[in-house]
This record gives sequence, structure tokens and C-alpha cells, in this order.
Amino acid sequence: MIFGACYYPEHWEKSEWRKHAKLMREAGFNIIRAGDFAWGIMEPKEDEFDFFLLEEAVNTLAEEGIQTVLCTPTAAPPKWLVNKYDILQRDRYGRRENWGSRREGCANSKDYQRRSVLIAEKMAEHFSRNQNVIAWQVDNEFGCHISTRCYCENCRKEFSKWLEKKYGTIENLNKTWGTVFWSLQYDSFDDIILPVYNSCEPEHEQLWSHNPSLDLEYRRFASDSWVKYQKLQADAIRKYTDKPITHNFMGHFSDIDYYNLAKDLDFVSWDNYPDNQWGSSEYAYVSMAHETMRGLKNKNFIVVEEQSGPCGWDIMGATPEPGQLRLWTYQALAHGGGGIMYFRFKALPYGMEQYWYGILDHDGIPRRRYYEIQKTAGELKQLEPYIVGRKNQYDALIVKTYDNVWAHEIKRHAGEFNYAGLLYSYYKANARLNINTAVSIGSYEDYKVVYMPGYNVVDLKEIEKIAEYVKNGGTLVTTFRSGTRDGYNNIFTSTLPCAFAELAGIEVEEFSAIRKTAYIAGIVESKANIWCDVIKPVTAEVLCTYTNHYFKDKAAVTVNSYGRGKVYYIGCDLEEPAMEKLVDYISSRAGIERTAAPAGVEFIKREGFGILLNYNDYAVHIPMKGKSLLNGGDFTGNLERYGVEFISWDNEENTCNMIQNI
Ligand code: GAL
Repeated sequence: MIFGACYYPEHWEKSEWRKHAKLMREAGFNIIRAGDFAWGIMEPKEDEFDFFLLEEAVNTLAEEGIQTVLCTPTAAPPKWLVNKYDILQRDRYGRRENWGSRREGCANSKDYQRRSVLIAEKMAEHFSRNQNVIAWQVDNEFGCHISTRCYCENCRKEFSKWLEKKYGTIENLNKTWGTVFWSLQYDSFDDIILPVYNSCEPEHEQLWSHNPSLDLEYRRFASDSWVKYQKLQADAIRKYTDKPITHNFMGHFSDIDYYNLAKDLDFVSWDNYPDNQWGSSEYAYVSMAHETMRGLKNKNFIVVEEQSGPCGWDIMGATPEPGQLRLWTYQALAHGGGGIMYFRFKALPYGMEQYWYGILDHDGIPRRRYYEIQKTAGELKQLEPYIVGRKNQYDALIVKTYDNVWAHEIKRHAGEFNYAGLLYSYYKANARLNINTAVSIGSYEDYKVVYMPGYNVVDLKEIEKIAEYVKNGGTLVTTFRSGTRDGYNNIFTSTLPCAFAELAGIEVEEFSAIRKTAYIAGIVESKANIWCDVIKPVTAEVLCTYTNHYFKDKAAVTVNSYGRGKVYYIGCDLEEPAMEKLVDYISSRAGIERTAAPAGVEFIKREGFGILLNYNDYAVHIPMKGKSLLNGGDFTGNLERYGVEFISWDNEENTCNMIQNI
């Protein structure tokens, strides 16, 4: 199983490599990830390639049994490159990004593409002969801390070609986008503008002020640009080696269509920092991020950067408490991780990330965090058959599409509305009931319940698929603001909820962004603070009604029988306890087993065994029986603070080997 750390040989004296490698081996590591950002070392001057240092490091580490995932360094273009070529992004205000950090390159700059492909190709050619390099990572975190949407002239020209390919004629585009509104007709594709800052945009408020079709298409195009940029590099690497290729994704980050980005890769990786300068994440939020990553290919992934110390840029988050590094490791593995690497091996005394602590502090002396990881490595040797190549058994699916992320961002419906938050509220309720819940798209048959919250921009083919799923006995849950827009971000003119009307067996008579709290009662009681749909049942049965306002007694939540299945329509936002009760109600009727566990405890089911994770900083008791796979004895029911347990019901064996079986 992949177990290791991110290591930057160029940051350390060569004389230290061996010492570091020895500490890594003693910690149970078998891998490092290296090379990201080292463009200045590998190509110090244009066309002068030098892989000596990196190769020496790869070989030195290999002598201690540590292999390497090699990254292309293209997230950090060197100064000579920006001096010679104009590769820098432009923002919405037309300002040029400055060199001096990283990620400033524009995906559509031909020069940036060419230089990136060349360095990737030269690296691949050189290291294809080195058996210690076992996988590749393209670039580093597309979109991290700088927009994925550049507004330069290169992008504008490429966008206009992209549109021409999609729409064929400018007349078709004008008609589809409704550019007749405010005389925004284009005479040709050369006229196409980018959605830059304009006269409708208040100075201190981000308001997407363009034609909504233009805004959505630009997000799609910008996403495609990075997918294409990644593919250029992946193709260059594949010319020389057939080692698997990945990129490090960012969990909930949603500016790129991650399903598309994942397509050209052999496996998905991601970077997980649950508690940093910018805040501390709820456990279910982190679990959902892991599931989102697993759902991209419906395949296990690797965490290539897992937090291993206190971290931040100018201030720090909290130091992981005793037990938390181990707990976060198991959380990742329980949600589909097939391996893990910690960021970073040792804290660096200089540079922007001085405060991004790793396994070792600046003095390099192994202490609590090192020993906790070492202990975890020991346990994992024994638990490996229960992790690598294993899949959870999923009962529920949350459908997340990037079109919906973007469309909801462009037209937010209500001040407090947030698509990501809506999806999370459904995920969290499922997590509290310990229902294994996937986050993905595409195929529905494998799940007992499919949630499509706020599924606003619809592809009608998808509606046909989900209708088929329900007809065959599936359960669909959808909500307010679902089904109302076509693929061009225009609003359907049929009666709300438009694409879902027949399935849900309802008509939405009225709707409102809420100014005065609405209350509902029925199978659940709740306040609604963001949105309410006033529902007229056609064939549906009413489960909840409003209890105040002029729409008192009108339906708020309904269920419809469709074929052999059911469609629930939730017309308003719900408070957390009500959401949990609702999900419980729906799940029980769909035949899903729920497992009660104390708050802050997660239970993940796999065939023959389960994984218990206690996120609380206090011990808990769980009345569960089984054999502990950690110590071979009977499970006592006691879980220590931040404790983990693997409980088995059988003795199924499984074999595994590193990347191939992620
Ligand atoms: C990640 C990035 C790493 C490092 C880390 C700490 O986003 O991939 O290179 O910068 O964050 O900021």
C-alpha cells in the first residue's frame, strides 16, 4: 500500500537525504512524491535540462526502499520563462497577474503549453529508465489560490473557437443565448467577449453581471482549458512510459469539472487539510470530500497530501492533537483511499510556506507526530487487505454536477442559497445515520436512494435515465430549484418544477426567497429560512405542509409513486434535525439499514466488516459486537478519543499490491 510523504530534495543539502530516507524507512514509508515546483532546478535556462539532482535523490531514497511519484513542475514557471514569454493570466479587471508565487500561467497560452509539454516530455524520457519512479503527477492543484478563469486575449480567441464549434453559426448562438436582450447580439464569433467586469457590477460586490449563457459557457470553457492543458502533459509523458498518471485534486473545489479532469488520468489523488489557517472542517465535510474524489472515477484514490502538522501561510491552524493524524488517515482509507502520503516530510525554514509544518519540525527531530504515523504504518501492514482494492457498499448517492455548481453561483436565487451547502446538508444527514453515501454522477441502479438536490441545470437525457431508475423501483429525492433550467442556462417555460414535474407529480404554484421564516409540519417539523415552493399535488401525496404565511396548509414536502419507485420533492430548506429525520424516513422506506452511533462517530460498512471512527475528543461506548481486526480480540464497545476500530464479521482475506490495486 502507498504510504509516504511529500519530499522536496532540492530544499535540503544532499548530505541530509540519506538521513531523511532512513527516518522514512523507519516510519514505514515506501514512497515519496517529488519534483512539483522544481522547474528552476530541472531547466535553469531555456532548453538546458538537468535532471541530475532529482535522479540522485530518487536513487538515494530507493536505497532505503523508498520509491517515487514524480511530478511535472509546471505550477511554478521560472523567471526566464515569464521574462521571455507572456504567459501570465489576466483577471476580470484586465490586470496582469504578477510572477512571484506560483500558478500564474494561463492554460491557453501557447508558450506556456509548449514549454510545459517540453519539460514533461524531457522528464518522462529521462526517468522512464528509472524503475524507482512508479507513477506520475501532472502539475499541482489546478486552480489553487488563483482563478481557473483567465481573461486574456488568448483565452478570448480560444473561447470564440470553442463556441463556434459548439453553436455552428453566430445566429444560432444569438438565438440560444437570447442576446436580443439589451442589444447584445454578436455579428460574428470574432466579436465574442469574455465575462469581464462591466457596468452592472457593483464595486465591492461580486455579481455575475453578464448574459447567464455566456457566464456558464465561459466556466465550461475555462474548465475544458485545464482539462486540455493536463492532457497535453499526460500525452507527453505517455510517449515514454506507461506508468500510471494522476493529478492532485482539491476535494470540494469546484471551478473545474473534476469528472472531466479525471477522465484522462489513471487514478485520482487529492490533498486533504482538515484543520488549517482557514478553519477546521466538520468530519462529515471531510468524508464528503473523500467521497467526491472517489466518485470521480468510481474508483479508489490516493491522498497525496495529508495534513501532518499545524499549517497556514501567515498564521497557523491548530496542531493535530494526539490521535488525530491516525484518525484522519483511517478516515481517508475508509472512504475509498487506497494509499496516503503526508505533506510534508519536514518543515522548511525559508519560503512562503515556513509555517506549513510537516511530520518533522524545523529541527528535524522525530517527535509525537512522527511516532503516531509510524504506529499507524505498523497497523496498516496488518489491515492492508481490508483497505487496498476494497470498496464500500453504497446505499445512497448524492448527485453533484459542476454545471449546477456554476449555474447556482451565477444566479443564486436567494441571498443565503448555496448549492454546496444544500448538497452537504443531505450528505451530513446520511452520514449521521451511518448510511454509506457516494457522491457522483451517471449511473443510478446501484443505489437505493438517489438525491438530486438543487439539480437546476438539466440534461434531458439524464432525466430520462433517472425516470427509468424510478420506474424500476428506485427512490429519487429532489428539491426546490431543481429542473428549472436547460443546458444553456435559460429557464424552461413549462410549469415548475419543469423537468421534474411529471416525476414528482406536482406543480409549484408559487415560490419565494424567504424574508420571514416559514414553518412546516407533517412527517417533520422545521423552519425554512432560505426558500419555499408552494406545491400543488397532482398525483403526489402530501408529507408536510406550511403552518404560517398566506400559503398556510399548502404542501411543502410530497412523495409521488412513479412506476415501481418513489419521488420525494422537498420544497424548502430544512434545519439539521428535520433533515436527519426526513432522510431517516426516506431511507427506512427504501429498505436502507441505518446504524445509530453516538454523535461524532462514523461507522462505514464494507463486506464482512465495518470501520468505526470517533472524531470526539472524549471516549465513547458503542454497543456493537464483533472481532477487532486491530488486536484480534473481541470488540469491547469502547472507543478512545479520536479512536479507530475495524470490526469483522468474517475472516475474508484479500491480496493487494500498491498502485495497481488502489
Ligand atoms: C497544497 C499544495 C502544496 C502546498 C500545500 C500547503 O495546496 O499542493 O504544494 O502548497 O497546499 O499550502
